[in-house]
Amino acid sequence: MNHPETIATLAASVSAPPHVRHARLLGWVREMAALAKPDAIVWCDGSDAENEDMIGRMLESGTLLRLDPAKRPNSFLARSDPSDVARVEDRTFICSQREEDAGPTNNWRAPAEMRATLAGLFDGAMRGRTMYVVPFSMGPIGSPIAHVGVELTDSPYVVASMRVMTRMGGAVYDVLGADGDFVPCVHSVGAPLAPGQRDVAWPCNATTKYIVHFPETREIWSYGSGYGGNALLGKKCFALRIASVMGRDQGWLAEHMLILGVTTPQGHKYHVAAAFPSACGKTNFAMLIPPRAFRGWQVTTIGEDIAWIKPGVDGRLHAINPEAGCFGVAPGTSHESNPNAMAMLHANVIFTNVALTDDGDVWWEGMTKEPPAHLIDWQGRDWTPADGKAGRKAAHANARFTVPMVQCPSVDPDWDNPAGVPIDAFVFGGRRSDTAPLIVEARSWEEGVYKAATMGSEMTAAAAGTIGEVRRDPFAMLPFCGYHVGDYFAHWLEMGRKVAKPPKIFAVNWFRKDAAGRFAWPGFGENMRVLQWIVGRCAGGARAVDTPLGPMPAYGDLNWEGLDFDAGRYAEVTAIRRDEWERELAAHDALFDKVGKRRPEALAGERERLGRGLRGV
Ligand code: GTP
Ligand code: SPV
Ligand code: MN
Repeated sequence: MNHPETIATLAASVSAPPHVRHARLLGWVREMAALAKPDAIVWCDGSDAENEDMIGRMLESGTLLRLDPAKRPNSFLARSDPSDVARVEDRTFICSQREEDAGPTNNWRAPAEMRATLAGLFDGAMRGRTMYVVPFSMGPIGSPIAHVGVELTDSPYVVASMRVMTRMGGAVYDVLGADGDFVPCVHSVGAPLAPGQRDVAWPCNATTKYIVHFPETREIWSYGSGYGGNALLGKKCFALRIASVMGRDQGWLAEHMLILGVTTPQGHKYHVAAAFPSACGKTNFAMLIPPRAFRGWQVTTIGEDIAWIKPGVDGRLHAINPEAGCFGVAPGTSHESNPNAMAMLHANVIFTNVALTDDGDVWWEGMTKEPPAHLIDWQGRDWTPADGKAGRKAAHANARFTVPMVQCPSVDPDWDNPAGVPIDAFVFGGRRSDTAPLIVEARSWEEGVYKAATMGSEMTAAAAGTIGEVRRDPFAMLPFCGYHVGDYFAHWLEMGRKVAKPPKIFAVNWFRKDAAGRFAWPGFGENMRVLQWIVGRCAGGARAVDTPLGPMPAYGDLNWEGLDFDAGRYAEVTAIRRDEWERELAAHDALFDKVGKRRPEALAGERERLGRGLRGV
């Protein structure tokens, strides 16, 4: 293969299925094939047969291991290269024409310079591999809120994962017709094969990675990684970075948010959208099971990572989940912490970087109190509890499961309603050992935007970086906003003014620690107590006390039935401490210094008010 004639023939034919009649799509596939020089092109239709073929190829190449079909039917384990385990934020680029439009929180490169770099990297990048053409819809196919993308990838793992995470398949070509809009997404693992060269189980490029976005032309190019948000381009690259730019231009929001429904015993239903940074509890909160004392309350799941939010004719904001699957954090997931997630993992799952049990099943830290006596760890090595005691994890901290949304027992009947669900409350929450209280309400839309903009959070294993370090993560969108963060704040302020009935805004923190370094709040299902109060504030009726940060529930304003949590411990998770808030305000100021001239004036006013209020603490 790879003779010039072969390539010429391949590029010329690009034999697309007959129902693909989109000239721009055909031209682009032809052009990319000529550049990346794959051995073959496969136009994906999303069918079961095609998926089985994909799985078969990966079983053969060693990318996937089949788990015990009795214990986990149709489920597989992938082990990534140890260098390719999380998003790479320092290799993620926003290539707007002008640097100032990418803003101070994004890596910027001049588009022309980046295009030249990519042209070099992609030249022959797919040699020895197959290029898959993956058509997908973010949002229900054909919905007025949905948007189409086409990903070209040389990774069958990406194809199989995109089939779970998006509406992938031939129907998308029909939506596109002859000239419909799509976001072109090009992906290569960056590991071409020489003739006769044996492939490895997880091809990637250990030294060179680029996750590139051109916001003005709405294109995505990804090179060198096969993992998660680096490679499944419908997710962070499209549904957040590119979609945030589309939302700015068209008057909507693309957010790193879960969406849940909460129904009261009286049958009133509310919808909450909540933004927490990566690995900070979105999946858990979205699938919350209310404690026993909350008889008659029901929490249902619409989305667990991304929300697209648009103003409706009723003067409210409506949200859809653009995804069709869940790429969830495995460690910490158990029958105690998230029974719904555990139930949804019974079959049809692609696990990545979890441990393998001797009976062909999976395990990760936190799944059970006692680890099995022997495991194969995420790098394929023997593992015993002694290794665990010595600090070696059996599953990688960012090990994940990929599973269809419909397998979630708490999935909301409206989860794929093309019209979305009306949002009553926005919730923002970072991971903070101190400073941020359990729950506080914003007194206005502007104050809520300020709280979200200045949110801090300790870094997790979801991205390469210093775990535990507190950083500002505005709106939990720091790695995902595709344009200048100051303009993003202004867009949020504007959205609140635009709708007649904007949602209430709240800030939460499930992660306060006590003096002994243990989580001071029980969290998980017990977060229902806070959620009930939030819903009560939206409905009117729930009581609060005023604090310098805004209204908070007094101890007696939360429902404590069935939980032994006294007023002293409550004081610990809600305390507002002067020294901590002095540091916090300094961090806010440093963020706004960085944002610079594009900081909206309204936020300066909020900072002023907050500082004044805290002087009394
Ligand atoms: P991404 O998929 O990375 O965007 O993250 P996510 O926000 O969906 O993360 P997820 O819900 O999977 O959170 C995973 C981590 O948060 C695990 O370590 C959980 O144990 C922890 N977690 C979730 N909810 C709670 C909680 O209420 N309290 C505490 N202490 N930890 C929690
Ligand atoms: C996150 O990191 O926020 C995720 C996982 O949801 S990934 O898709 O890899 O970005
Ligand atoms: Mn996420």
